[in-house]
Amino acid sequence: MSRKKIVAGNWKMNSTLKEAKDLVSAIVKNKPLNQKSTCIIFPPFVYLPELIKLFGKEISFGAQNCSSFKKGAYTGEVSAEMLADICCEYVLIGHSERRSYFNETSEQLIDKIKLALQHKLKVIFCFGELLKDREANTQFNVVEEQLLSVLKKLNEKELKQITLAYEPVWAIGTGLTATPNQAEEMHFFIRTSLQNNFGAEYANSVQILYGGSCNATNAEELFSCPNVDGGLIGGASLKGNDFVSIIKASL
Ligand code: PGA
Repeated sequence: MSRKKIVAGNWKMNSTLKEAKDLVSAIVKNKPLNQKSTCIIFPPFVYLPELIKLFGKEISFGAQNCSSFKKGAYTGEVSAEMLADICCEYVLIGHSERRSYFNETSEQLIDKIKLALQHKLKVIFCFGELLKDREANTQFNVVEEQLLSVLKKLNEKELKQITLAYEPVWAIGTGLTATPNQAEEMHFFIRTSLQNNFGAEYANSVQILYGGSCNATNAEELFSCPNVDGGLIGGASLKGNDFVSIIKASL
């Protein structure tokens, strides 16, 4: 089964509004026109409305997070409904920085996913092991636990609407990319676990992205792994030329 590739840029807490507009404008101008892969940009919340108005016809946008609460007295939170209201298309849920710095639990991630899907947002669900897990050779157990503790709480319709992103935490922002062999080994393991738990049709159709120091130099090799369906790019998505090269590597 051929799965469409996705290249997603997670800007994290970077850029001014002017830098944001210049960067998206450069990406839109230089990215290949063909629609063989989906390209999504995840800027900080505050820039989303303006970027969507300016460039929403040319490229997809997503938020880096959403609240696990529907609405109400939750100072500082942004709800899934608000994101849908500004025509935001995607949301990242479960990024390792949210899990570690903001103590997000699987229970909260389940609530976020359900709310996001209720509001027709497309979800990219992130997970991945820590360095200490890999050193102890427990990465497969850790990844399966993170994955199944959330996916098993979703119904069939919900399951089909989410994209997965495997991001080994030791590779995020460190320059230490997983080798194509390590990435493929884990993606194959994930697909096998999904097949055992949810059936072959689901396992073969779900897109699984790789994230963690993916860049213009290593993207092509990573994306050529049979079970890697594109990438979630942090640092390299802040450089227009590099991000465009990564998009080209996905075609
Ligand atoms: P990185 O970040 O590409 O800078 O390693 C990836 C991510 O955190 O999604």
